[in-house]
Amino acid sequence: MPRRVPFERAIGYGQAMTDDPIALFDRWYAEAKAAEPNDPNAMALATADAGGRPSVRMVLLKGHGPDGFVFYTNRGSRKAEALAENMQAGLLFHWKSLRRQIRIDGAVSFASDAESDAYFATRGRASQLGAWASDQSRPLADRALFEDRYAAMERRFEGVDVPRPPRWGGYRVAPERIEFWQDRAHRLHERRLFVRAGDGAGDRQRRRWRAPSHSDHWVRSPAPRRTRRRTARRDRHSSAPHSATCINAEHPRRPARGTTPSPVI
Ligand SMILES: Cc1cc2nc3c(=O)[nH]c(=O)nc-3n(C[C@H](O)[C@H](O)[C@H](O)COP(=O)(O)O)c2cc1C
Repeated sequence: MPRRVPFERAIGYGQAMTDDPIALFDRWYAEAKAAEPNDPNAMALATADAGGRPSVRMVLLKGHGPDGFVFYTNRGSRKAEALAENMQAGLLFHWKSLRRQIRIDGAVSFASDAESDAYFATRGRASQLGAWASDQSRPLADRALFEDRYAAMERRFEGVDVPRPPRWGGYRVAPERIEFWQDRAHRLHERRLFVRAGDGAGDRQRRRWRAPSHSDHWVRSPAPRRTRRRTARRDRHSSAPHSATCINAEHPRRPARGTTPSPVI
């Protein structure tokens, strides 16, 4: 059984604070690798086509750093078609046993051929052949057809290394916003949002993050006076969802900068 993390674990508070979201990502990712039984690198990838129609599916993170978060796929797939129309994406990690999520939004670019070749070479031979056999997102009459294609690829590449298929490669999501979310007791969750400062032009190493103060908590707004007692009683006895608004602990009447007041449920 994976270890359950207590609600009380906060977003790096009490640990060394950082204004570098990539460093915080690294720390949470390392903890996810230790805690999650399957695929700690699984993330939802959201795309939207030119008409604004959204679509989401899981992919695996295969590399990351200040320049972005990389996944690999078939460049003829439905997600690739959406990206060809709109090179923007959202990523979402949800690590259930840690009660955490990380949201990342940003512009998408192709990973270089050299980078895609290098990653493809690390895949098992069966996965490499599968990439040749699969016409991702295109319906097949039956599974036997796919197995026939796979067998044909086994024959085609018998005795030689399997090269990367031309229609298969990497995409990099360059983060413009990274939001860390930690579940806490009574839905008093904590969020920490980093927004890329500037337009990103020039030396990438000098691109900086605008991070809200770590006192930006998401806390429940006070209930209206007449319902306050009833709400307090309900909270003691129930874990039913209730609405909350963003309140900056330093400026209780003003929403935190860089965040949008909205229900937290
Ligand atoms: C945990 C998990 C990880 C996955 N990883 C990938 C991946 O890294 N690349 C990929 O192309 N598909 C991956 N898939 C399959 C996709 O979710 C999806 O079914 C496929 O890419 C076709 O999506 P599309 O039709 O939107 O292009 C994964 C599925 C799951 C459940």
